[in-house]
Amino acid sequence: MGINLKVDLGAGLKLDNPVLTASGTFGFGHQYAEFIDLNRLGGFIVKGTTLEPRQGNPAPRLVETPSGMINAVGLQNPGVEDFAKYIYPTLTGFTSKVIVNISGAQVSDYVKVAEILAPLEKVSAIEVNISCPNVKGGGMSFGTSPEMAAEVTAAVRKVWPRHMMVKLTPNVTSVVQIAKAVEAAGADSVSLVNTFLAMVVDVERRKACLSTVTGGLSGPAIRPIAVRMVWQVAQAVKIPVVGLGGIMDASDALQFIMAGATAVQIGTANFIDPAASVKVVDGIEDYCRRHNVADISELRGII
Ligand SMILES: Cc1cc2nc3c(=O)[nH]c(=O)nc-3n(C[C@H](O)[C@H](O)[C@H](O)COP(=O)(O)O)c2cc1C
Repeated sequence: MGINLKVDLGAGLKLDNPVLTASGTFGFGHQYAEFIDLNRLGGFIVKGTTLEPRQGNPAPRLVETPSGMINAVGLQNPGVEDFAKYIYPTLTGFTSKVIVNISGAQVSDYVKVAEILAPLEKVSAIEVNISCPNVKGGGMSFGTSPEMAAEVTAAVRKVWPRHMMVKLTPNVTSVVQIAKAVEAAGADSVSLVNTFLAMVVDVERRKACLSTVTGGLSGPAIRPIAVRMVWQVAQAVKIPVVGLGGIMDASDALQFIMAGATAVQIGTANFIDPAASVKVVDGIEDYCRRHNVADISELRGII
């Protein structure tokens, strides 16, 4: 039986299967090409890209936690001009979709990054990371206020011609409210979740484990909360939802799909096994075969 794993996220973003890799956990994609066939993925989402190059935060910026890890990498990246000039040419030969995750400290940063990426035809979509602090908005993250989230979405919408995914932070009281705000402002899809604000104390040294004190928690520890949020958002918006947070295998990915996600992203699992994402594709196909599912859409939102 031929199983159809193709999914359509709208606004021209069609994937061969629902599996993407998550930003910040898969480099710029090409680093993983020696471990896996990138064309087996629905697509890959590259590192958070900013207008100017960023060194990121000083070490220590990673700490392991029970069933997860906290990172404070701080969006280390060479900047969008460098991406366009040196990295983009390494990504144009793949059949899987290339999505660029963009970040900024003010609305105009996001807009400029999107403008620079717009002529790069093989960038099928951008994922707008609204978890960043808004320096002009008192340092509050764009994604924690419906107004700021809508403002940045609408501004990028004006300059970005292809699919625009907006990535939501879970560090809010109502993620549904933020999802609805970015949908109304022109997002083609929403992805969730980004990391949860967290911290660990080293009691022997009497210091926080991270140089920044707090960081973002990811991995299996966050999965049940992420599944709940995806389920809530999928019922509240009309645009497709992309689910992530602690997916380690196909069964975890299917939880998100059954909760309403059209596609999923694999993040922290890539650090444990660089082939995790491809194994999720194989595992979903195997599940469909075992359960006589002819089309992945039969499983979407059945909860
Ligand atoms: C080391 C690291 C770097 C990350 N960098 C970014 C980033 O640049 N932009 C972004 O939107 N999310 C970033 N994330 C968040 C992930 O894309 C993802 O949303 C989060 O880790 C939850 O998924 P997971 O539990 O499968 O890792 C990063 C996560 C980690 C662990």
